[in-house]
Amino acid sequence: MDSHMDWHAARAALEWQVDLGVTESISETPINRFEQVAPPPKTGLAAVSQAPVMPVEINPVAEAEAAARGASDLAALKAAMEAYPHCDLQKGARNLVFSDGVAGSRVMIIGEAPGREEDQVGKPFVGRAGQLLDKMLAAIDLGRDRTDAHSVYITNVLPWRPPQNRDPKPDEMAMMMPFLKRHIVLAKPEVLVVMGNISCQALLGKRGITRLRGQWDAAEGLPVIPMFHPAYLLRSPAAKREAWADLLDLRAHLTKKA
Ligand code: URA
Repeated sequence: MDSHMDWHAARAALEWQVDLGVTESISETPINRFEQVAPPPKTGLAAVSQAPVMPVEINPVAEAEAAARGASDLAALKAAMEAYPHCDLQKGARNLVFSDGVAGSRVMIIGEAPGREEDQVGKPFVGRAGQLLDKMLAAIDLGRDRTDAHSVYITNVLPWRPPQNRDPKPDEMAMMMPFLKRHIVLAKPEVLVVMGNISCQALLGKRGITRLRGQWDAAEGLPVIPMFHPAYLLRSPAAKREAWADLLDLRAHLTKKA
């Protein structure tokens, strides 16, 4: 026992530890750490294994491109996205939100990112904005549950919900773009509908949906029509008039090309 503690103080300290729930001492034999000597320096192979490891430069976009390129169908693409380790959004998300509707549909709708409901269910556009989207599509005789030529296919720029639904960061978008581009190739749509500013930024490289909406554009070798995001229409119902005009434009395009 250390000499600075008398018997009573030592007993009180011991009782205090027992009260705290201590049931055993760590070691029978006391260790004097001042007497311990540093281990001898390693030589030979052991020294090699201790050599500082040079950090390997990681290029998340290049890795995403390689992973996306290697996916030969939609199931493989989904698996490649699940296995992709560089997007931190995945850590905070419950589910990867890949798509809904019918792959191979003439129309592919591209939203921004999953919200709370989508994250819970694992499907895009299942919350309030999604219910409005379904009504908008039904108004021009389209639907994600249709099994005929009027079906649609739906996905998002980002497959994981950003925390507090914040806007995606440029690096998050850049690293997920190769997957979106491959998604478009594998889903083989005739027309892309991009909803909201984030989707316009991702596919057209420009923002300003109020100016862009309703103007046919092109991306990934396909005609693109930018539209107001249904979440915006919920906040600004007056804009539904323009959204209706854009839906009619989409319907006319599909009828003309049918
Ligand atoms: N908003 C989007 O852009 N996508 C969803 O899936 C849900 C809400």
